[in-house]
Amino acid sequence: MKLASSIRTIPDFPKPGIIFRDITTLLGDAQAFTLAVDELVGAFTGVDIDKVACIEARGFILGGAVAHILGAGVVPLRKKGKLPHDRIQSAYQLEYGMDIIEMHSDAIESGERVLLIDDLIATGGTAIAGIDLLRRGGAQIVGAAFVIDLPDLGGSKRVEAEGVKVVSLVSFD
Ligand code: PRP
Ligand code: ADE
Repeated sequence: MKLASSIRTIPDFPKPGIIFRDITTLLGDAQAFTLAVDELVGAFTGVDIDKVACIEARGFILGGAVAHILGAGVVPLRKKGKLPHDRIQSAYQLEYGMDIIEMHSDAIESGERVLLIDDLIATGGTAIAGIDLLRRGGAQIVGAAFVIDLPDLGGSKRVEAEGVKVVSLVSFD
């Protein structure tokens, strides 16, 4: 089973010039979904992980499954205005726009070991904003893991430059 072939490519979505990598086809294929989650978990075998932080929206689907297997808690990093309690926020630039993500201020206990999960890393803006929130919240980040890396956009290098180990399962040029 090849994960890459389970991912659909949509040209010019959501804007002209963007080659959109659509994971809904991977999610809908039981074998591919299981393999993706198992490989994300397997990359951190033997690593102590207290919580999995995952990024709205596609990161939630993978992060919840990964946390369940690891026996870890889940920390949702949400788009602005969705979290009900005291929160901290970080703004970031996307391949196709700008956004703000937020985390509850009490989501992490100081020193907790946290794995960041999202479906895809492109420019790395979203992941860096997530790392910023987690560090401000007191987390020790053990790694950041993605199903898809778009290495030409430089995100994984930016995250590694932050001192965070990056794992990805599939790369698209
Ligand atoms: C996508 C993807 C990542 C982010 C990666 O999310 O799921 O979170 O873009 O891009 P970057 O590395 O350039 O920051 P999007 O913001 O489209 O939101 P969605 O998951 O709600 O569709
Ligand atoms: N997020 C940022 N860039 C993306 C792309 N090319 N495909 C899917 N999600 C993305």
